[in-house]
Amino acid sequence: MCGAEKVRHMLMGEQVLKKWKKSKKMTVAFGGILVMSVVIGGCGGREDAKKSIKIGISVYDQYDTFVSEMMKDFNDYATKKEEETGVAINIDTYNASASQSTQNSQVENMITEGCDVICVNLVDRTDPTAIIDLAEKNNIPVIFFNRELVEEDLERWTRLYYVGAQAFESGIMQGELAAEAFLTDQSLDKNGDGIFQYVVLEGEAGHQDAIVRTEYSVSTMIDSGVEVEKLGYAIANWNRAQAQTKMAQLMSQFGDSIELVIANNDDMALGAIDALKASGLTKDEWPAVIGIDGTDVGLEAVKNKEMIGTVYNDKEGQADAMLNLAYELSTGSDLSDLNLIDGKYIRLPYARVTCDDVDSYMEGDTE
Ligand code: BGC
Repeated sequence: MCGAEKVRHMLMGEQVLKKWKKSKKMTVAFGGILVMSVVIGGCGGREDAKKSIKIGISVYDQYDTFVSEMMKDFNDYATKKEEETGVAINIDTYNASASQSTQNSQVENMITEGCDVICVNLVDRTDPTAIIDLAEKNNIPVIFFNRELVEEDLERWTRLYYVGAQAFESGIMQGELAAEAFLTDQSLDKNGDGIFQYVVLEGEAGHQDAIVRTEYSVSTMIDSGVEVEKLGYAIANWNRAQAQTKMAQLMSQFGDSIELVIANNDDMALGAIDALKASGLTKDEWPAVIGIDGTDVGLEAVKNKEMIGTVYNDKEGQADAMLNLAYELSTGSDLSDLNLIDGKYIRLPYARVTCDDVDSYMEGDTE
């Protein structure tokens, strides 16, 4: 630590607010959005980059469960890194509220504010041009995360990076879990026809994880020897409340023929469970529900056996990797220890979670 008193305030949701409730001061930044970093006592300033660095972050939607949990981990790792290195790490986090033009303005503001590196959770993964142009013009490196831009865009300048995971892996693991459940538990085949009748709750149209997860999940079940039949699907934009509404519609359309709900993330799986609970069906009558992410609430549902499993999207690993990369870029250090793929990508592996091993993931949480 540089010896100065550090106060940090992050407005990324209640959990984080609680964590930083010792904060004494807040700044109101660009466009009325509250940002979270204040350093008192002279640690700031790019004139002494080794003692103090500044990281700007824009998230596509601060209410997204996975992203907000990842941000909490990012802040926890930043605190640890400060203790290890003695370098003050100032983090300004902005919520783009699902608007790409708001996010572009936020990046402009972060550059004006002197950020050493900018981390962007793109609103529209097909529209990073304005951000890339701004960053290149001002020579500020950008780490994109979670919402993957196309390779051609990432190649447009040397100081652009991506931290995330390989979407297809999560689809394969979800399909394996569903197939294993069907092949080992006859009660899941409610009508006894030997075919797994399923519906899909999809994330945002156009998001790499939505398209790829669904495709691989279904093809893996088939490759594992399970005959499947798709009854229907609905787009629920990663969102629990939307998934509850969509699931209620699917249930009124297909009744008890639904044997499996494949959700592209845990929040939508939980929305499906909310609809099942509201329907008055007993738990024995529910279809199997399976998610992806291993969020705190998702893991809880696996432990309670409301979900047959989930696929762990390593938010701690991604947060840690992004923090280390941001740190090295800000302090001008060598990136060789970070094992970047093609000099640009860091991808963390997924993992399968069932009620047999869920406890280790719950313990492993950085809560
Ligand atoms: C996560 C979702 C999240 C989405 C946001 C995905 O990787 O699995 O839970 O809503 O990213 O971009």
